[in-house]
Amino acid sequence: MGTLFLIFLLSLAIHSPPSSSTSDSLSLSRGSSLSVEKPEDVLVSADGVFTAGFHQVGNNSFCFAIWFTEPSSSDHYQNRTIVWMANRDQPVNGKRSKLSLLQNGNLILSDAGQSNVWATTTTSLSPVHLTLQNSGNLVLQKSDHFVLWQSFEFPTDTLLPHQPLTRNTILVSMRSQSNFSSGFYKLFFDNDNLLRLLYDGLQTSSVYWFEPWLAGQDAGRSTDNSSRIAVLDSLGNFTSSDKYTLMAADYGAKSQRRLTVDSDGNVRLYSRKKPGDKWAVSGQVISDPCKIHGVCGVNSVCSYDPGHGRKCSCIPGYSLINHTDWNYGCEPQYNYTCTKGESTFFKLSKLEFFGYDYGYFTNYTYEDCENLCLKLCNCKGFQYSRIPGRPTYSCYPKTVLLNGYRSPSFFGDLYLRVPKNHLLSYQKPQEEYRLNCIGTVVGLDRNYVKTSVTGSVKFLLWFACGVGGFEIICILLVLGLLRGTRPNSNEDMQGYVLAATGFKRFSYGELKKATRGFSEEIGRGAGGIVYKGVLADQRVAAIKMLNGADPGEAEFLGEANTIGKLNHMHLIEMWGFCSEGKHRLLVYEYMEHGSLAQNLSSNVLDWEKRFEIAVGTAKGLAYLHEECLEWVLHCDVKPQNILLDSNYQPKVADFGLSKLFNRGGLKNSSFSRIRGTRGYIAPEWVYNLPITSKVDVYSYGIVVLEMVTGKNPTIGVDAIDGEQRRLIMWVREKVNGTTDIASRMGEIIDPSFEGNYDVKKMEILLEVALHCVEEDKDARPTMSQVVETLLQLEKDESQ
Ligand SMILES: *[C@@H]1O[C@H](CO)[C@@H](O)[C@H](O)[C@H]1NC(C)=O
Ligand SMILES: *[C@@H]1O[C@H](CO)[C@@H](O)[C@H](O)[C@H]1NC(C)=O
Ligand SMILES: *[C@@H]1O[C@H](CO)[C@@H](O)[C@H](O)[C@H]1NC(C)=O
Ligand SMILES: *[C@@H]1O[C@H](CO)[C@@H](O)[C@H](O)[C@H]1NC(C)=O
Ligand SMILES: *[C@@H]1O[C@H](CO)[C@@H](O)[C@H](O)[C@H]1NC(C)=O
Ligand SMILES: *[C@@H]1O[C@H](CO)[C@@H](O)[C@H](O)[C@H]1NC(C)=O
Ligand SMILES: *[C@@H]1O[C@H](CO)[C@@H](O)[C@H](O)[C@H]1NC(C)=O
Ligand SMILES: *[C@@H]1O[C@H](CO)[C@@H](O)[C@H](O)[C@H]1NC(C)=O
Repeated sequence: MGTLFLIFLLSLAIHSPPSSSTSDSLSLSRGSSLSVEKPEDVLVSADGVFTAGFHQVGNNSFCFAIWFTEPSSSDHYQNRTIVWMANRDQPVNGKRSKLSLLQNGNLILSDAGQSNVWATTTTSLSPVHLTLQNSGNLVLQKSDHFVLWQSFEFPTDTLLPHQPLTRNTILVSMRSQSNFSSGFYKLFFDNDNLLRLLYDGLQTSSVYWFEPWLAGQDAGRSTDNSSRIAVLDSLGNFTSSDKYTLMAADYGAKSQRRLTVDSDGNVRLYSRKKPGDKWAVSGQVISDPCKIHGVCGVNSVCSYDPGHGRKCSCIPGYSLINHTDWNYGCEPQYNYTCTKGESTFFKLSKLEFFGYDYGYFTNYTYEDCENLCLKLCNCKGFQYSRIPGRPTYSCYPKTVLLNGYRSPSFFGDLYLRVPKNHLLSYQKPQEEYRLNCIGTVVGLDRNYVKTSVTGSVKFLLWFACGVGGFEIICILLVLGLLRGTRPNSNEDMQGYVLAATGFKRFSYGELKKATRGFSEEIGRGAGGIVYKGVLADQRVAAIKMLNGADPGEAEFLGEANTIGKLNHMHLIEMWGFCSEGKHRLLVYEYMEHGSLAQNLSSNVLDWEKRFEIAVGTAKGLAYLHEECLEWVLHCDVKPQNILLDSNYQPKVADFGLSKLFNRGGLKNSSFSRIRGTRGYIAPEWVYNLPITSKVDVYSYGIVVLEMVTGKNPTIGVDAIDGEQRRLIMWVREKVNGTTDIASRMGEIIDPSFEGNYDVKKMEILLEVALHCVEEDKDARPTMSQVVETLLQLEKDESQ
């Protein structure tokens, strides 16, 4: 009995830690303070989710911060996720520093009992108290609830659900993953009401999102709404008054979410189910990390590949300034002089540097451009590039070499100015340095596969076996691998499914009724038959009945859920599914105009629509391939899987044969030999080479060739070396040996246009397509580079 009582007393002590002069850990009242020397001096929100207190940021240095409370077993300061800081740029001493609420209503942070480093500068005659609300908002208010000050109005790098970003606030990244002081990346509302990301570096600053050369409306934004407010809701939808939205891939009820401007310049949505879990990335603003300005500093080049992440390398003849911090960039190993005879140029192909042009000179010969650069003392080199579809070259002398990246889709080269007597030493291979993606990044949390995934499949996350040509085989494979990974209880599963709003579990009866007994068939594939139906809420749906095998319910639900969470305007939207007895059905939005395949044969698509379809499809695929989130391969890109809505806008359907790579875990190969559709499959499948996202790029290239030429690559195909190669070869022969593709366009282009088309746009489509169907996968561009190339043309037109 005595022992029990002691335990009772002890547990009381643990649950209400003594705090210096505060009344309890829920609020701080006038005249009391929190001391840096007492770790138990913290404020905790009523529901326990957030804690505010002193957080150690370095040797003997502390900041007053708010963080997500972790379970006591893992509560170590290095494990905390900080959401706000009072004094990030001016840490205080570990001795005698205090956060005090003065009698006059001012809340101050004093350093070592001496100077004040931070204050709310509030005053009040009546009593005030400081509380940490359940939302994570630290609020200083009077007893009548009047708010004098609140941390939500002074964010640092993170927005919590319902915390608005306004015209008066700005998010600033951390300096690095381990240094909490203000970094270089800023998310803010610009004067034209648009939300932007700015790199504000040591020597330079530039906006890098959205694409600086796009007008707001071209980026899908609106300047009209001057309210300038952006909020993350608790379900995972981040929306801004300029019409930007970023939706979490795991949209729905999750217990914890946040939006953070990371120290690598990307803005990411994070979520996790419970304290102590790792955070999963459920969305990010920038998909091509090399597009973030300043990543590598001056005179260096960023390159990215999904398997290894982001890398920086100094341009030839330059060396790294600070080996621990890339932001300092690289410096020249040799001095060049301004004297004309003493410098020459060294070509770096397909290399682009953004910004810092001395000017923009069209229709320049190479010699003109070289002479221009030589005349300018601060010219570090020049970009000599051709706008796709145009015969003439333009010249961009560069005064600073910043934001460099190598892009196979870039139609130009950089000529670096080098001292003549050192030219030879520039041919040495460059050193490469790896940058890591943000350390906390883990793959998206998968409800069903998570903790219990066993060794043999640890590196694999499977995806989307529900639909498409060979999915049943795939499901069987997954089933084989995932045995024993069923969720703990059926209830868990139901709850999870229901939590994902807008995504519904249908009964077989409902779908039978919706399709009037599966009467109207609208499509058929190896995986199943698609029926048209009208749901109870009057939405018209396409309902796919999977036939063949019977995947286990848990696995089916897990996969269906994942597909349901992928959300993009150019991906088909899944509304729900049915899993009842042996029935497995998927419910999609219905696309009025059917598939691209149907429309190509009926000649309703003019060149303009085809161009837009090419752009939209590329955007949808680029989203699937996005880094850091989940790397999804489609593996069956073909006109039958590109559906058209009432405005002929494309949506990619049937993410069949796909899988997810756990980031960095897998060297993109050990995938069983499953192939897409004849006529569209990449050579890697045939030659047993590693399968990467470039297989989709290849298939996309064939689809675009088909759209441009009107010729079907599958007709007459037997096996692999058939018509498909011949379509490519036919086009290549037409194009080869001419620098002026425009003159040959007439012979290549779909005769149904009857000469009615924009030569430049069709030419660039053709160039992009040929680039995509290179035999060597490394020579092909990525989907986001394709998007960029196509959009570049539009930018160019609007100039
Ligand atoms: C922190 O201080 C201790 C003791 O003074 C020292 O040994 C250690 O190297 C310091 N750590 C850093 C990162 O400066
Ligand atoms: C962080 O938390 C994990 C458990 O989630 C724990 O194993 C680890 O020791 C903690 N790290 C530190 C530095 O305490
Ligand atoms: C963090 O970065 C700032 C700015 O570069 C620097 O002054 C400070 O010393 C760094 N702090 C730590 C703990 O490294
Ligand atoms: C997310 O927010 C946008 C803008 O308010 C809205 O159009 C969209 O429907 C929302 N998505 C969901 C699933 O609520
Ligand atoms: C402007 O945006 C805000 C927030 O998104 C919205 O509530 C408001 O209705 C919008 N105003 C107009 C005029 O569209
Ligand atoms: C390199 O950068 C780090 C972090 O910003 C800094 O602490 C260090 O002093 C720098 N080293 C040199 C040689 O400039
Ligand atoms: C470049 O010139 C500066 C000043 O003239 C000199 O200090 C420096 O050592 C030179 N660097 C090299 C690599 O020659
Ligand atoms: C480019 O310049 C050359 C010679 O200066 C001229 O003949 C040609 O017409 C120009 N081309 C264009 C497209 O302006």
